[in-house]
Amino acid sequence: MFSVVKTDIRQIEPYSLVAFFMSEFQENCPIETITRSASDVVCITVLASQIARTACPGQFVMVRVGNGYDPLLRRPFSIHACDQKNNSISLLFKVVGQGTAMLAALAPDDSLDLIGPLGKGFSFGNTPACLVGGGMGIAPLYFLASELAARESTNDHHILLGARNREELAPFVDQFSGLGFAVQTATDDGSLGHHGFVPDLLDAITPFAGTIYTCGPHPMMENVVRKCSQLSLPCQVSLETHMACGLGACLGCTVAGKDGYVHVCKQGPVFPASEVKWTL
Ligand SMILES: Cc1cc2nc3c(=O)[nH]c(=O)nc-3n(C[C@H](O)[C@H](O)[C@H](O)COP(=O)(O)OP(=O)(O)OC[C@H]3O[C@@H](n4cnc5c(N)ncnc54)[C@H](O)[C@@H]3O)c2cc1C
Ligand code: FES
Repeated sequence: MFSVVKTDIRQIEPYSLVAFFMSEFQENCPIETITRSASDVVCITVLASQIARTACPGQFVMVRVGNGYDPLLRRPFSIHACDQKNNSISLLFKVVGQGTAMLAALAPDDSLDLIGPLGKGFSFGNTPACLVGGGMGIAPLYFLASELAARESTNDHHILLGARNREELAPFVDQFSGLGFAVQTATDDGSLGHHGFVPDLLDAITPFAGTIYTCGPHPMMENVVRKCSQLSLPCQVSLETHMACGLGACLGCTVAGKDGYVHVCKQGPVFPASEVKWTL
């Protein structure tokens, strides 16, 4: 795939010049809707025709936060939903610092400057699928679940969702069950579903013969990978690291893989679990 970036090269910020010569798109995206599903969880839907046309589940975008140079670096966000008919994509994020607070303060008349779709997404493995998401790791799993549901109508897909409490988790239960997924939940405070951690829920669905896809905090994914290796189940993980460029240029996102260091932004963020070095 090769694309022409429809931006005046003299007016773009210096480090997105790298994107100019790559296959990703840089788009100025009008905001369609901005909603809150919890006090600090925000969903922004933007018109992004080129990104929506080519995005795959598990890929991400680098978002320019604000129009100035503070913060200087773009922020990475998974593509949460993709609607090719309406040329739109959605980002789901938690407000954790300066950049996400600025994004949460935007309004439907504003627009977002995005580079994407970036990285390698999920590959479709044996069905049925079991998706395991913790916290904002739920974000890329909705796009994946939509694609799985569109490919094969089955009642056998599972999703196991974990979060701190009911407020954070409840809005997603209907979303995933609407796609035909069997939903099970775990919360840290026991306010919705299992009182404990989401990997515990894997015991409830075994015996299971299919593919596990997971995204969430590193210790959670490590537990999922441990259980999958005990059960000999194929597992794909979506890793989150600090990213400065998101384009393979700064080496800021490297993690230890089985055969040396890997770039999460270019070789991932999704990897077969067996390619990542875990402390199991
Ligand atoms: C490929 C990828 C996809 C992501 N998708 C999502 C998503 O869909 N939804 C979502 O809510 N978040 C996602 N993140 C994390 C998101 O990029 C950060 O939360 C965001 O950049 C924080 O920006 P900030 O300016 O608000 O916070 P900052 O002020 O930069 O930092 C606030 C705090 O968050 C921590 N932090 C910042 N970035 C990261 C990071 N990448 N990983 C772990 N901790 C971090 C910092 O250490 C600090 O403690 C993703 C990250 C990656 C690498
Ligand atoms: S974030 Fe710069 S190389 Fe990956």
